[in-house]
Amino acid sequence: MRTLTVLPFAAIGILMIGLGIRGAQATPAAGAAVKAQMNAQGCFACHAVDMKIVGPAYSWVAYRFAHQKGAVEKLAHKIIAGGAGEWNAWTGGIAMPPHSNLSLAQAEAMARWVLAQKPVAPPPPG
Ligand code: HEC
Repeated sequence: MRTLTVLPFAAIGILMIGLGIRGAQATPAAGAAVKAQMNAQGCFACHAVDMKIVGPAYSWVAYRFAHQKGAVEKLAHKIIAGGAGEWNAWTGGIAMPPHSNLSLAQAEAMARWVLAQKPVAPPPPG
């Protein structure tokens, strides 16, 4: 009888430990996987985290969209469709090319990765 009452709690405990371990490992591993995908897509040819290359630094994007509702969706659509306008003062009006081979889920994961970078205010354009 005693074992019967203890068993469900033991099971829940083991489940929680299991989820805890997964939770601790999933984030960096998932982040690395997204970064690898971005590398394969050539994102880092035009973007760096901490400086402008052709496109804005990802840390500037994280700053501009920090706490903005719907930012993941907005950026994911921009990554897929491409376009200019937001960063013209820094880029001279160059457009990001479309990445229409990406699924919405892939683009959203990339947008989340960008937004997870340490936010840095963009320097004055010029
Ligand atoms: C050929 C260069 C180029 C490549 C390749 C490129 N980008 Fe961009 N990206 C840009 C430019 C230029 C902008 C600025 C667009 C603007 O002014 O609205 C930009 C803007 C962005 C933004 C901010 C959008 C906004 O509205 O503020 C994100 C996020 C982004 N890129 C992510 C990506 C990801 C992820 C990839 C790879 C799948 C990628 N970029 C590949 C040039 C590029």
